[in-house]
Amino acid sequence: MFDSYSEIFAKRGHAYHEAMVRFPAARTQEFDEILKLADIRGGQVVCDVPSGGGYLANYFKTEPEFFISIDPADQFVAHYAENDHLNGLCSKLEALALGDGSVDMLISLAGMHHLPDRMLFYREVMRVLKVGGTLCIADVAAGSPVDGFLNIFVHRHNSMGHEGDFFMTKAADELKQCGFGITSVYPKRYHWVFENINDMVLYCRLMFGLDRASDEETLEGIRKYLGFEERDGQVLMNWELMFLKARK
Ligand SMILES: C[S@@+](CC[C@H](N)C(=O)[O-])C[C@H]1O[C@@H](n2cnc3c(N)ncnc32)[C@H](O)[C@@H]1O
Repeated sequence: MFDSYSEIFAKRGHAYHEAMVRFPAARTQEFDEILKLADIRGGQVVCDVPSGGGYLANYFKTEPEFFISIDPADQFVAHYAENDHLNGLCSKLEALALGDGSVDMLISLAGMHHLPDRMLFYREVMRVLKVGGTLCIADVAAGSPVDGFLNIFVHRHNSMGHEGDFFMTKAADELKQCGFGITSVYPKRYHWVFENINDMVLYCRLMFGLDRASDEETLEGIRKYLGFEERDGQVLMNWELMFLKARK
């Protein structure tokens, strides 16, 4: 599964990156939420894994002392060069190219539901964090509308499929087994925001590689699984993730 998902992102990575670059404001509420949870302080070493093209840095309110983006897919890592402020590494998640006790905070946004062995990753995070260091995760809750959108609609309309293991209800127990203390766990509903419906459809087609859905089918899928509303000249697409903070 690990290799096949890497292969999927090797193919899908450019379109995902195009979505993020063409519509940088779409997921602002999501990045803002995980950064609020992380509460980054100056002087900290912060690591984003898996980082895609290193987007998190675009939403910082407080700059950390040192920021590292890590992703296993070359296609994403190649884009780090476009941003002078990014220190990027290409590394597998179960063997992070970081020293023991070198990181104050590790952030993982929407990237762990394809890991074949989360325990290996948690132990790696435990290894690289300083004592008292923090892990912040946000990912899809099993049974949520986003679960249905990804594992039913995207799975059907992306020729490579989507079979996410939505683990967040288990994450706190798994992390405790690995020696973490849990600081907070909560679900959060918010919006992905667009200027118009066409942008929302294009964004989803790019981000989720919907090569087997027309624009009309994509819009129907969004309407059926997620829902959206038009308000004050914007299109607000419903999205939600579970957010978790743990301490070493
Ligand atoms: C949905 S994206 C999330 C990226 C970024 N954190 C964001 O929020 O936009 C998932 C990321 O997982 C990376 N990835 C690739 N293979 C993986 C694997 N086997 N396990 C975990 N992540 C993988 C992909 O390269 C991709 O960057």
